[in-house]
Parts: sequence; C-alpha cells; structure tokens
Amino acid sequence: MNNNIIRPEPSKSNDTLISVNKKTDREEAAAHLIAGNYLLVEDRYSTGMAVLAELKKQVFGGKKKDFFSAYRNKRSEFYHASNRLLVPIKSNRIALKKSPDIGWLEKLYPDIEDFQLTFPQIQGLNSSWQWYLKGIAYPGLKEKIHPFYGTYFPTRYDHLTLFDEWLKKYGGPKTLAIDIGTGCGVLAFQMLNRGFEKVTASDIIPNSVISVEEHAKKIGVSDRLEVCLSDLFGQHHQKADLIVFNPPWLPAQKEIEGLDSAIYYEKDLFERFFSEAAIFLNEGGKLVVLFSNLAESAGAADFHPVKDELNIQKRYRQISLRKRKVKRSSKKTKRRDHRKKECVELWELEPL
Ligand SMILES: C[S@@+](CC[C@H](N)C(=O)[O-])C[C@H]1O[C@@H](n2cnc3c(N)ncnc32)[C@H](O)[C@@H]1O
Repeated sequence: MNNNIIRPEPSKSNDTLISVNKKTDREEAAAHLIAGNYLLVEDRYSTGMAVLAELKKQVFGGKKKDFFSAYRNKRSEFYHASNRLLVPIKSNRIALKKSPDIGWLEKLYPDIEDFQLTFPQIQGLNSSWQWYLKGIAYPGLKEKIHPFYGTYFPTRYDHLTLFDEWLKKYGGPKTLAIDIGTGCGVLAFQMLNRGFEKVTASDIIPNSVISVEEHAKKIGVSDRLEVCLSDLFGQHHQKADLIVFNPPWLPAQKEIEGLDSAIYYEKDLFERFFSEAAIFLNEGGKLVVLFSNLAESAGAADFHPVKDELNIQKRYRQISLRKRKVKRSSKKTKRRDHRKKECVELWELEPL
C-alpha cells in the first residue's frame, strides 16, 4: 500500500493516561479532558460514548444558541478535549467490548497492530467504513461507488446530473478524456459509461488513486482508465478530446491540508489549470468546468475563476453554460439564505 496514504495518525501522547471504565464518574472524566489530561477507555465502547456526551454537556452547557464567536470557541474546546479521549487498538481491532467492526483498521495500518486512536478519529473511520460498505448510487452510473477512506465523494448530485445530461448530447470524438481532481472517480466513470474509449484521471490525494483503481478493477474497466497521483496534469502528455474539472469551489483562507483540497482552492490553482489545459486538448477539443455560485452568493468571494478566465485572461471561448438550481437535501433542513439561491454551473469552453 502507498506510503503516503492519508490515515488518522496514532496517538503519540507521552502523558500519563488515566483509565476510564463504566464505574468512573463521567463528570470527573469530562473535567479531566477539559483540563488537558489524556484518558484511555478500558472496558466498553459505550463508556467512551458516555464520556463524550458528558463532555458535550460541560462544554456547550446545554445551550442551543450562542453568539457565533462564542460557539466557535466552544467547538474548538470540544474538539481538543474530545481528542484526548483514547481508544485502544489491538490486532487491528478496537479492544473494547461492543465496538463497531471497522475494516479500515486493518487496511490502513498493515504496519502496526497495537496502537491508540482518539475517539473522534474512530468515529470518523466508522462513518467512512459504513459509506464504503454501503456504496453510493450516482446519476449516470450502473454500479454504486464505494469510496476508499480519505477520498472526496459528492453527497449532492446536481452537478453530476448536469454533466451526465451534457455528456448524453456530446457528439464529438471519444478517444481520450481527462478528469482532473477525480475524487472517487465519478466523472471519469460517467465518461466511460457514455462511450469514451479511455480516460486519464488525476488527483493529489493518494487515497483517491486507490479508490478509483479499486472501483475500476471491480467493474472491469482498468484497461480503459489510468489513474495518476499528480498535481493537475502532472506527467500527462497525451492530448484529449475532452477535459473535465470539478474544482474546489471556495477560496482558501488558511493553509490547505489533506481533504481540504476538495473544498478550498489556493489562489494560483485556476491560473495554472487554464494555462495547462489548452496544451492537452486536441484540435476542436472541449474543456468542461463544473462550478457553483456558492462562494459568490455567500459573499465569500467576488472572484469567479471561469468568468475571470473568459473576461480577463481571454484564452478560451465560451461555447455554452448550463445551470441547475441545487435541490434541497431535505425539507426539514433549514438552509441559510445564500444556500437557497445556490446553482451549479457547467461551463463548456474551447481554446481561442
Ligand atoms: C470538488 S472535488 C471533485 C471530485 C470529483 N471530480 C467529483 O466531481 O466529485 C475536487 C477534487 O480535486 C482534487 N484536487 C484539488 N487540487 C488539485 C490539484 N492541484 N491537482 C489534482 N487534483 C486536485 C481534490 O483532492 C478533490 O478530489
């Protein structure tokens, strides 16, 4: 397995650990976490859950509403304190009674069997394992995708529907397509499904490469899909008929780490992408960029990378623009105002 694989780092705390079990006073245990002490759960998974519940009560004080800054501080306090509650792992399994079975403990840690992870790390691994087992059905795909740990996978599908509708109408050559920032590979698999002979997909996250290769093997298309660990086009050299990029949609406010790269973009990302993309397009080749007005409508940015490219840099011509209002995920979910106006966009361009 790839050495650079992203996985929750085992605890390296040298502090003395305080053991907790079902007999431990939970209020005291939560107070220890807040005070900066490390606790190790020693009997059951439910003990850890109960301590976390008590910690939440102590940190948030049972209040539903708070000023934004006060709430942010409490969230940060909860984050740090909860990450001092440790779970023992022995022979790649949680060494506590009535624990969930999390296959990632074996797959991600072939080099170590006995270690400790924090309770929130375990909860994250467990949730990812459930998605992996269950799989996700996406528009335009026959088989469900089972995203590998640490891989970005969409939980809303409006941009995927837009792209699949566009692909259905696409009448150009289908020899080779490139999918930049492939995530779990959904756009690459949509293109293969719509008749592209070959697709090259890239991502900067190693887990993403594993995820896409695993799915390609499972559905028998490995010979038509090449997956590379690379920044944008990397070592790629063949020209394509179509390049698609569903980039991160929000400008980064701080340094980007790990999976943040799926959500936030660094300032130079689009300049680099647009200047390289034209080199990798065949004569008459098309560039499709999926984007959203999320940052603009939330007031987080007045910069729109595609509009900037078309109006200021002027290296491409717009062929078409399709938009689709983002469906509410649930009637019960109250969206903030800007989310109500959210649209996804499909920009079809060609080099000038
Ligand atoms: C919004 S996600 C889209 C994933 C997938 N294509 C989809 O539509 O669901 C953006 C992806 O781009 C990847 N990414 C970000 N910066 C990149 C770069 N410089 N080179 C390659 N991939 C990058 C991220 O890791 C992430 O998987």
